[in-house]
Amino acid sequence: MRQPLVAGNWKLNGSLGAISELLSGIGEQLSAVKVAELAICPPFIYLGHVQRLIGKSGISLGAQDCSDQDSGAYTGEVAATMIKEFGCKYIIVGHSERRHIYAESNDRVAKKYEQVKNSQLVPILCVGETLRDREDGRTEVIIAQQLDAVLGRIGIDGFVDAVIAYEPVWAIGTGETATPEHAQKVHEYIRNKLAAISKDIAANIRILYGGSMKPENAKQLLEQNDIDGGLIGGAALKAKDFIGIALAAN
Ligand code: 13P
Repeated sequence: MRQPLVAGNWKLNGSLGAISELLSGIGEQLSAVKVAELAICPPFIYLGHVQRLIGKSGISLGAQDCSDQDSGAYTGEVAATMIKEFGCKYIIVGHSERRHIYAESNDRVAKKYEQVKNSQLVPILCVGETLRDREDGRTEVIIAQQLDAVLGRIGIDGFVDAVIAYEPVWAIGTGETATPEHAQKVHEYIRNKLAAISKDIAANIRILYGGSMKPENAKQLLEQNDIDGGLIGGAALKAKDFIGIALAAN
């Protein structure tokens, strides 16, 4: 059984005060969440703060990115091993904002993924096509390239206990959500691609959907066979919405 995972990617948002308020709002409604695992991925600088505030609530902690290096002269970078020291379970790699705004190649994302695995943390590997790719009928080609870069670097065993997030770039922060049918089709493609190498690993891997997921559309998305949770941006910044999405998995 794949336990649904609802992970909040806070992106470049928050302050000490706003985070305390948001987490207390989440805490108040937490007991209603029966099925989903909740995770929160704040900006690096707030990991310690969030770690203290979530305490033993059962909410998992994650980072939004990590370095592709483990140590050395890499100004501004944060290593997966450092992230681990703050009680993190997850690290997001290859988010489309990193790929597109900061020009991260498939190869660099694969190196980061390897760092996460080497630190015994769980990667949340983001994949997804742009609007242009989609219109050109290249959704599967793009996703295959993104997965192959990681497979080529560490092989299928690197996907044991990992998480993949399908985030169509055209649906991120736009209010436009993939239809449950479109999302399911792509999730199925991802699972089948891994199943062609290992049926077991493919059957166990959690594939999240991300892109304008909110309480109103969460249920229909989460009902799909191959959608095992959500990676939430904007809606994760409001306690009621974040919990509302998690409740859709009950
Ligand atoms: P939105 O939920 O704001 O569309 O963001 C999705 C996302 O990028 C999560 O990583």
